[in-house]
Amino acid sequence: MKKEVVNLLKKPLKDLKIVLTGEQIEKTIESPPSPEMGDYAFPCFSLAEKLKMNPHEIALQVREKIGDFLETEFYDIQVEGSYVNFFVNRKSLARQTVWDIITQKKNYGRATIGNKKKAIVEFSSPNIAKPFGIGHLRSTIIGNSIANILEFSGYKTVRINYLGDWGAQFGRLLAGYRKFGREKELLKDPINYLLKIYVKTNKKQYEKIAREEFKKMEEEDKKTLMLWKLFKGFTMEDFKKMYKLLKIKFDAYEGESNYNKKAKALLEELKEKKIVKKSQGAYVINLEEYGLGNALVEKSDGTTLYATRDLSAAIDRYKRYKFDRMIYEVGQEQKLYFRQLFKTLEILGYKWSKDCVHADHGLYLDKDGKKFSTRKGKMVFLKDIIDETLGLAKKEIKKREPSVSKRGLDEKALKIAIAAIFYGDLKNNRQNNIVFDLKKFVSFEGDTGPYILYSYARASSIIKKIDVKEKFQVYDLEDKELELVKKLSQFPEVVLAAQQSLNPSLVANYSYHLAQTFNEFYHGCRVLGSQQETFRLALVQSFRQVLKNSMSLLGIDVLDKM
Ligand code: ARG
Repeated sequence: MKKEVVNLLKKPLKDLKIVLTGEQIEKTIESPPSPEMGDYAFPCFSLAEKLKMNPHEIALQVREKIGDFLETEFYDIQVEGSYVNFFVNRKSLARQTVWDIITQKKNYGRATIGNKKKAIVEFSSPNIAKPFGIGHLRSTIIGNSIANILEFSGYKTVRINYLGDWGAQFGRLLAGYRKFGREKELLKDPINYLLKIYVKTNKKQYEKIAREEFKKMEEEDKKTLMLWKLFKGFTMEDFKKMYKLLKIKFDAYEGESNYNKKAKALLEELKEKKIVKKSQGAYVINLEEYGLGNALVEKSDGTTLYATRDLSAAIDRYKRYKFDRMIYEVGQEQKLYFRQLFKTLEILGYKWSKDCVHADHGLYLDKDGKKFSTRKGKMVFLKDIIDETLGLAKKEIKKREPSVSKRGLDEKALKIAIAAIFYGDLKNNRQNNIVFDLKKFVSFEGDTGPYILYSYARASSIIKKIDVKEKFQVYDLEDKELELVKKLSQFPEVVLAAQQSLNPSLVANYSYHLAQTFNEFYHGCRVLGSQQETFRLALVQSFRQVLKNSMSLLGIDVLDKM
């Protein structure tokens, strides 16, 4: 429907010598706060300066140039103040929207704007030989959703998990294991044991042997690599279990270790081209003229760095994937780092560096506003968070359904827990810091994942026995019905906006408002046994479909029964 408003406005604006693309016009159109002001409004303030007319005057001229609109979906178009207000023929809006949803089903809202272009989304990227910490949870949740949204918008996506599996810290771990390690202990609980060893070795006195050990890794010493592979294997087993539980999938695991050799070759090239300069025995790229300081790319002992590996990974990915966009979903603390990375790629002459984006995110905070990832001086692990959430979810389920079977309980609890954690994160703008408050996240009331799932289950209980017919008759709409129709019709716009800003919170907030609008409709309008039953059933079904589509973009499964 908004598209129709755009179409009506195109010619009048052109006649007034205003150059705006359809997309720009669409962005200007507002949804008026109350029905007397129409269903869509075009504000004329921003045109006043260019046309040297007052906005009301412009609105009148636009209206005049629209002329007759009998053939359109609008029953009235009026000027009020500086706005041109459009009144939609409500019945046809309802008919069209519900029809679109019921026939397009899981494809409702899907866009083609991506044009099958290739987008790499790199996310999660935890570090091996350590338990999966909560620090990487945000990247996992947000990156997954961004990839879903891009895919739904017509991009071909490649989801990459860039494991932190190389670097000086593993030299430390290997040295520590050689010194204190016991195989028996390792096998009992590999990851926690490795963490213990790491902490024990993270001291000045072991620096030298740690460095030597990493050098051996870089030189691909067989024995050293065997041990490293063993550690990596244990970790991956654990991580993959976690991803499976959370239903997170990757197209490729491509860790830093893939780039040891390539990074060395790149360094040679940089030296030859004199892009790097020597500074106290190490090599740096001077980015001072861009206000980005110096980026260290080779240490004085000749070993590579995080940055060197990232540079060669980017170059290698372009060779292999020819991406049109590459998105790195990584925390805000690496902001400067990514600016340096992209600038260096630009200096190296890679034009595609402009297509690289750091989609950053803020921190999880605890209720006192402190960084959450280390609570009481201890690290917080995802496994504990999931267990805690499952416990809370089970309590809620049992309250409502005391006779629930064990299997039913487990299944529901997992879905509710995922909804709680994912939604608790995604409802916030990713760049904000957010309070990680599990009790709130799991609540069945308020702006939470479980509340939204609950609304879905409620709608499902109405539909359950009744088959929704594709034939339905539309009567005059009540306000609550119309509001639901309008909300449903907005979903495609929301997807586009989220795609453009790589911001899943738009989809999350939309899901919540949609659920609220449905609940109000459900309170106000009888469905079964009413004269409007065929339409209202179709409307309930449409709600289920759209909510399911939007939640799936967040990585959240719905539940038919709760
Ligand atoms: N493993 C890194 C960390 O935990 C994140 C990797 C981010 N991606 C990248 N291409 N640098 O900090």
